[in-house]
Amino acid sequence: MAPFSRIASIIAIVSSAASAWKTFTVPHTDGQDDTPALMAALPDYTSDSTILFKKGMKYNIFTPVKFLVLNNVEVRIEGNLTYPADIPTIQAIVGSSSFPGSWFTFTGGNNVILRGSQDPEWGWVDGQGQAWWDAQQQVNRPHGCAFSKINNGVIWDMKLWKPIAWNFATSGASNIHAFNNKIVAVSDTKSFPFTYFVALERKGGSVADVQDVLIENTPAPRYLI
Ligand SMILES: *[C@@H]1O[C@H](CO)[C@@H](O)[C@H](O)[C@H]1NC(C)=O
Repeated sequence: MAPFSRIASIIAIVSSAASAWKTFTVPHTDGQDDTPALMAALPDYTSDSTILFKKGMKYNIFTPVKFLVLNNVEVRIEGNLTYPADIPTIQAIVGSSSFPGSWFTFTGGNNVILRGSQDPEWGWVDGQGQAWWDAQQQVNRPHGCAFSKINNGVIWDMKLWKPIAWNFATSGASNIHAFNNKIVAVSDTKSFPFTYFVALERKGGSVADVQDVLIENTPAPRYLI
């Protein structure tokens, strides 16, 4: 199936269930970790649901998010999300035995859309990577998003700002279309992002000379960055 007809069919499945559709708007509390409230609500939104990070909100994703198996679910990231700014905090979480493997972990399902925003000011996931690049700190870095074991999935308009480590992985997934995602790993200092950020654009070539990276309109239907 052509990519766009596949997306249309996933959206059609989503629309046909409209009568039973539920939307969960993730709550936010200033200065607090917003993950626990999301995790507590997730069991009620595993099918025919939208999980919405709302525009205008600046969410603190201070601990990892692990989704349950999802069927006909879209996760919309229209607000800004941030990782903790503090390196040791993240290292302790990544090093613990309960770490799910990525900061955002999908564990499986059917017809799942992970969609960001086209608003230039909103919908960013800020990895706070600058401090890691400056320190050339490579111990217990978190992987970004594992879109694992999803059958029929779309990763669309996602925007990552200064990611620390790997961005998207699609292990065990099938029929995945990823498009118009943006990864901005541009350093404000002379230190530069870890080189695998550019693997998609510089396949097989030397990447050591690349300092600032902007990957746009990522075209590959399945990829690991
Ligand atoms: C959202 O995050 C991005 C990346 O950190 C930032 O450039 C943008 O200004 C933020 N939006 C608002 C409204 O603060």
